[in-house]
Amino acid sequence: MNTTTVLEDEIAAAPAVQRCIEPSCGACYELAARLYVCARCGGLLDVVRDLAEKDHAGSVKGSDSVVKATGAALRKLWEERLASPDYRDRSGVWRYRELLPFDDETCVVSLMEGNTPIYDAPRSAGYCGLDRLKLKHQGCNPTGSFKDTGMTAAVTQALRLKVETVVCASTGNTSASLAAYAARADLKCAILVPHGQISHAKLAQSLDYGAAVLELDGNFDDAMRVIRELAEDESFYLVNSINPFRIEGQKTVAVEMLQQLAWEVPDHVVVPGGNLGNSAALGKGLLELYALGVIDRLPKLTVVQAAGAAPFAQMFAGGIPFGSPASANYDWSLEALQLRPIEHPQTLASAIKIGSPVSWKKARRAVIETGGRVLSVSEQEIADAKAIIGRDGIGCEPASATTIAGLKVLVAEGFVGAGENVVAVLTGHVMKDADYAINYHRGTLVSHSLAPDGSAEEQHLDSTFANPPARIKATRKAIVDQLARRAEDSSGQAGRGRPVLT
Ligand code: F0G
Repeated sequence: MNTTTVLEDEIAAAPAVQRCIEPSCGACYELAARLYVCARCGGLLDVVRDLAEKDHAGSVKGSDSVVKATGAALRKLWEERLASPDYRDRSGVWRYRELLPFDDETCVVSLMEGNTPIYDAPRSAGYCGLDRLKLKHQGCNPTGSFKDTGMTAAVTQALRLKVETVVCASTGNTSASLAAYAARADLKCAILVPHGQISHAKLAQSLDYGAAVLELDGNFDDAMRVIRELAEDESFYLVNSINPFRIEGQKTVAVEMLQQLAWEVPDHVVVPGGNLGNSAALGKGLLELYALGVIDRLPKLTVVQAAGAAPFAQMFAGGIPFGSPASANYDWSLEALQLRPIEHPQTLASAIKIGSPVSWKKARRAVIETGGRVLSVSEQEIADAKAIIGRDGIGCEPASATTIAGLKVLVAEGFVGAGENVVAVLTGHVMKDADYAINYHRGTLVSHSLAPDGSAEEQHLDSTFANPPARIKATRKAIVDQLARRAEDSSGQAGRGRPVLT
């Protein structure tokens, strides 16, 4: 069979629509319809193509041989594009445009997003109890977080809709990303962030890119509520991950990751969870690759939250049995799995300090359909895991380190086998939150939580893998003495059983 023909017939012709995810509704809207949730029932919207409708239980549209040929043709096309000079092929999102709801004439707003490295991380692997581990570093995107892969699609859609002003609520990364892409597209941009609760680096980025920065009295969930009210006015276009075009761009990380793994499907993929757009998108990408025959099985997708901001993990605790893919005829209305928002989320991983995640139903689908897990980890576990990732020479922001902290737990519990192939997705760059890293290494990292009586409680975190700076006199001898002391300290610590990384 001619694989090119398969591509043209099966993919290009498949019409895309926006469709309500609620099974009792399922209303469809054209791509140009400007809405964020279903106009009929308020449900979240998915962008769907007829072709991607096959589920992993095997109800194939067309014969198996068509699906296999489609998968092979797509893999070949995407391999060829790695050497192409077309600017869309230089982007790690638009390179996979067969999966995106835009036609060939679309004017693409790109900063050459994606193209992020996948690293071997032997120290992190050892820390988790794994033989080997790969880290897909989405923090190496143009603005330092995974948000760019979604923002390129959402801002491209904004241009298609000829909107005036793009807006978002954010814990800092979405806003930095939107500010940059809006500047590229020459669109007006306003971002809403919780005052005093986002890192300086993220705030600095949004200021530099020229956005109107609005610091709200309240937390992220308040900001999200207010921005949704604002976006009822048509002159504001909302690009939080409730916007299905964001999810479309973000799902391509699944393709880039698989391509980097030479299409060898890992056993597990682990991501942090906040507003749950990322896990929703990654899951959608994986399911579409499976439906198209690009991959022949699914990895288990696991989501890790910070314990003080873990409504999704709480929802799953004591819920469905984990570890085996649920029925392919996924029931969106699952009575037992309904999310209860948390009113006062607390975590030093400010990117995921979210109590009422918008995309939880989509993330629930991703976890259940791939047979993954959802869990939460403590502030101490996050802090130590982050330091270990740093010692692999990689580094990340605190939210990303939930993945390694979570993996350590899952290996200990036996859900992840020591010999299995695992990819953890790091979502933000280490420079996104320098204050956190400095406080950890100086031994001054303090987390806050709410006691049952509503009073604030402080917890001084241990700096288990501290690497504090040393202040010295301006002499050669002072340097030599200091380095000798450091060498002595580390051998002494090893003797006392303190964890030491050499
Ligand atoms: N990691 C980082 C670095 C993030 O910035 C976020 C979310 C997440 C993980 C969680 O991803 O929300 O898709 O589950 N940051 C958003 C923001 C909320 O506004 O920048 P999610």
